[in-house]
Amino acid sequence: MVKHNNGRLPNTQDNGPYAHVVGWGMAVPDRILTNQDLEAIVETNDEWIQTRTGIRERRIAGEHESTATLGLKAAQRALEVANILPLELDLIVVATSTPEHIFPSTASLIQDRLGATKAGAFDLSAACAGFVYALNMAAQSIRSGSIQTALVIGAETMSRVLDWQDRGTCILFGDGAGALVLKASDETGGVRSSVLRSDGSGWDLLTIPSVGSRDSNVPEANPDELKMYKMTMNGREVFKFATRVIGESITQALEMAGLQVDDLTLIVPHQANNRIIQAAARSLNVEPAMFMNNIDRYGNTSAASIPIALCEALEGGRIHEGDHIALCGFGGGLAWASIVVTWTGAETGEPRTLGKQRRQLTYLGANWRRRIVRWGRRLDNVANRIHPERGKLSRLRHKFDQQKLD
Ligand code: ACO
Repeated sequence: MVKHNNGRLPNTQDNGPYAHVVGWGMAVPDRILTNQDLEAIVETNDEWIQTRTGIRERRIAGEHESTATLGLKAAQRALEVANILPLELDLIVVATSTPEHIFPSTASLIQDRLGATKAGAFDLSAACAGFVYALNMAAQSIRSGSIQTALVIGAETMSRVLDWQDRGTCILFGDGAGALVLKASDETGGVRSSVLRSDGSGWDLLTIPSVGSRDSNVPEANPDELKMYKMTMNGREVFKFATRVIGESITQALEMAGLQVDDLTLIVPHQANNRIIQAAARSLNVEPAMFMNNIDRYGNTSAASIPIALCEALEGGRIHEGDHIALCGFGGGLAWASIVVTWTGAETGEPRTLGKQRRQLTYLGANWRRRIVRWGRRLDNVANRIHPERGKLSRLRHKFDQQKLD
């Protein structure tokens, strides 16, 4: 019999397996776009952007960079820290609002490039809350015992969906990716609790219309006004929503984990606006310094902002073994989510240099495997065209086998 917790299913359990974070990595493009650079694009200025948002500069993907290439780099770095082989991955989830295609998933492309041939892969869409949603999905799969190891990626090329004439949005966003590796362990710790929420009544406050959109079927819809694949946002409303939900959902996640805000060492929020972070600190009655904040250098990288900020917090020595930390994402949907993690960062895998060499070999092998399999498919098609009988025969054989099975 499942016990209920304030009418909600409890998502904490007293026994293992636990989902531990064992690897992390980030990747951002080299190209920097400063506020001064933006002054030449739209009517704005460095002073306005810095005082209203805290952003000084952001990274913009180059011609040959994409959501998958950035996600892949972040993933490879996370596997390095975790010291595991791609073959050990059971699941790859990519949180993104800027996927390479509607399908196949960006996760499938990364799975192929990594050579993670035993992993399932899918994308998850929950805008800037996406990474926390994805982390919850992967952690719950580990907690249920159905998988052992998962790779969770937040990757975005927001620069490609921005309307570069709209100063209310184009100054805010940047490109990048971050990734975490989760692993099952019987030791207590790891992802402790999570709260996922949505209020779709605010769908139009922050949106990027796509091919399946109801809006594109409205006869009087003007395609120029609709701006397919371009972001529109009601900044003030999103601002109000964000300042309301951050404190609330972190408090709920802490309650579920049996912790208090004073138990936290660090809060890693979605990096949307400095003033949103300050308001959240006031609502939780904590110092703003308790919040990780790197928005000045990357702007809002949507689903990538939390793992990027987490990586920089780790590199900066702000998280240690045994620390409790909270992650909070919020954005289009409207959707928001918080997770509490007890940090363990346990070492796994074989000796590091051996592991590194084997990972490099796997990436090389994945490259060859992809070429061979794709060529094999083409040759098969040509052979079938030249010898249609062969095709007919194999179909007959298949039918025969089916009948035998029936
Ligand atoms: N440069 C100069 N002036 C500007 C700019 C700009 N880039 N943008 C707007 N302004 C002007 C406006 O036109 C307005 O002028 P007016 O008073 O003459 O009409 C004035 O500045 C104030 O505009 P507001 O929209 O009220 O500015 P605000 O202080 O609310 O800041 C901002 C705007 C930064 C967008 C803020 O509302 C915000 O950060 N909102 C949250 C956005 C967000 O986080 N979105 C992402 C969520 S995550 C996701 O899912 C993608």
